Amino acid sequence: MRIDVITIFPHYLAPLRESLLGRARDKGLLEVAVHDLRDWTHDRHRTVDDTPYGGGAGMVMRPEPWGEALDTVVPAGEKARLIVPTPAGEVFTQAMAHELAAEQRLVFACGRYEGIDARVVEEAATRMPVTEISLGDYVLNGGEVAVLVIVEAVGRLLPGVVGNPESLVEESHADGLLEYPVYTKPASWRDRDVPPILLSGDHGRIARWRRDQALARTAARRPDLLAALAPEALSTADRTV
Ligand code: ADE
Repeated sequence: MRIDVITIFPHYLAPLRESLLGRARDKGLLEVAVHDLRDWTHDRHRTVDDTPYGGGAGMVMRPEPWGEALDTVVPAGEKARLIVPTPAGEVFTQAMAHELAAEQRLVFACGRYEGIDARVVEEAATRMPVTEISLGDYVLNGGEVAVLVIVEAVGRLLPGVVGNPESLVEESHADGLLEYPVYTKPASWRDRDVPPILLSGDHGRIARWRRDQALARTAARRPDLLAALAPEALSTADRTV
């Protein structure tokens, strides 16, 4: 997969060189290019923002540098999906991470201040698919942190990035539930014992216990997830363990 990020803070994206994603880049599974939006300004102050039409607080990103940046990063004839992180977007989910992981090329446009002039997304949408994505119902100072989150969630789903693909099957949100609690050695620590069933070697009972724990946790913490599951999803999974 190829990822381009356009931002006025290129250094913000440095963590994409670390850890799993850094190794994915070294292995050639993921290619990331970070571009400075100010390279597409033409005034002495490299201005990217201006006051909002209609009045109000804050500044809005001007459309011209964005238009030129997108024309250069995605020249006519090339295909890419444009992702614009914004608190006004669709809320990011694991299902969306899977959808984005199937793309060949993603371009992220990081807004700052009060956002990007709305004509940029409108015009870009005439030549590429555009998705505005929110991390959740809170406001960040800009899209950069959201890009780090989205690229990490998507990057780990690319074939070969996570060493043991089994670990992608068992984790939270893989089956619409939160993950069951996990334990490792020692079996007893500060007077707290690992649930004995996990030491029993009975894989059928362990699977049922984990499923019950996942259901109880999801019901307590995220009843909305449980309500969204099809009734068959619950009963089918129960029958298979
Ligand atoms: N930019 C500012 N706030 C954001 C949010 N909640 N999600 C994604 N991008 C943002």
